[in-house]
Amino acid sequence: MTKLWTGRFSKETDHLLDVLNASLPFDQKMAKQDIQGSLAHVKMLKDQKIISSDDYDQISQGLTSIQKDIDEGSLPIEGAEDIHSFIEQELTLRIGQAGKKLHTGRSRNDQVAVDLRLYTKESVQSIQALILDLISMLIQRSKEHLTTVMPGYTHLQRAQPVTLAHVWMAYGNMLKRDWIRFQNAFELMDECPLGSGALATSTYPIDRQKTSSLLGFAAPTSNSIDGVSDRDYCMEIASACSIMMMHLSRMCEEMILWCSAEFHFMELDDAFSTGSSIMPQKKNPDVCELIRGKTGRVYGHLVTLLTMQKGLSLAYNKDMQEDKEAFFDILETVIHSLQVMTPMIKSAKFDVEAMHQAALGGYINATDCADYLAKKGCPFRDAYKIVGELVAYCIEKKCSLNDLVLDEMQSFSSLFDEDVYDAIDLQTCISQRNVLGGPAPEQVKIQIQELERFIETR
Ligand code: ARG
Repeated sequence: MTKLWTGRFSKETDHLLDVLNASLPFDQKMAKQDIQGSLAHVKMLKDQKIISSDDYDQISQGLTSIQKDIDEGSLPIEGAEDIHSFIEQELTLRIGQAGKKLHTGRSRNDQVAVDLRLYTKESVQSIQALILDLISMLIQRSKEHLTTVMPGYTHLQRAQPVTLAHVWMAYGNMLKRDWIRFQNAFELMDECPLGSGALATSTYPIDRQKTSSLLGFAAPTSNSIDGVSDRDYCMEIASACSIMMMHLSRMCEEMILWCSAEFHFMELDDAFSTGSSIMPQKKNPDVCELIRGKTGRVYGHLVTLLTMQKGLSLAYNKDMQEDKEAFFDILETVIHSLQVMTPMIKSAKFDVEAMHQAALGGYINATDCADYLAKKGCPFRDAYKIVGELVAYCIEKKCSLNDLVLDEMQSFSSLFDEDVYDAIDLQTCISQRNVLGGPAPEQVKIQIQELERFIETR
């Protein structure tokens, strides 16, 4: 394997060291960014008269031809320590002497720092676009289910009636915060480390403002030691990814339950389900389980990143090469999970009747029944107790509150009247919760509008 670092050494490195040291198998993902960074660097070198126009022309054409061959798949990426070495070697093979001038006034520490930021910025933008797609899908499905009543749960026990739209909008709001978290992280990391050199910049009159703006960063980083050794942004984005995966995982857990025969609220499309090798009847929500499982994998990588950096003295240390496999895997896992979530939810079918039936059971209108008595003048605590007794009576009788005749109700409180049936009807229970953020269709419409506005203004 050809090395960039020659001269000082009198013999070849051990093969085992080469294997341990190599990052090419995974950092080749940053080939495009490495070329982009080099193109900006040489343009700046030419403008600053550090290299000649002729050298610049040869180098930039050489780099462009390498990019073209990589795109076409005609240039196998192999035989070097890392992507930075590979591209420089290939350039020198193609254009000779001028290629050796590319590395003037910069270091590989510089390169890896800028390449990874460029790569991360692109990935974050892809993730953000996918989050918006998923929110749009939740909005679409919510509009179909504004009046689809279902039990809302606490402790996984039926608690109060909500609607499917209300539940989807809960997730929509989580995803909105996720989008903002990525945006905040993006803005904080949008600084260009190129020109930091190995750690202490360069003796050449390089123009860091120029390379920063050529590469589309908001500004150059302020301190060169920090510039080459900062991986905060990887951890911050990994945290945003972890939190977002936690949201997807909760949504998946919910759907796994809903797909069970016990709930029967939902059926996934065949395209997003799997079968069993032995049980012919099975239709499994593997996609949801995989996303739930991959959430743990993303958390694990976050811990890898934090641990990798915690004991490192300034500035660059080779430990930092360990960031990439973990970080790339996080980004890919998140992108893939989001990509599959949207069409899975789009194609899912909901059993509105099963949801309604579940909402009828479990006495989820008991709070409404107590509120009914309280509104008629009974102190809420007393009303609560009366309805508790009423529920115990119904459990004994194996019926719901709505099944009781008025006489039975009146034996618990004389305040009960004919209008109680309307007050504890599920649709009434929903429409009466006409409070900001609540499940009443008017309120969920407002929640939908807010998220629509959020998407439109991105
Ligand atoms: N491959 C290295 C990494 O991924 C970058 C090269 C810097 N190497 C060095 N010996 N300073 O972090």
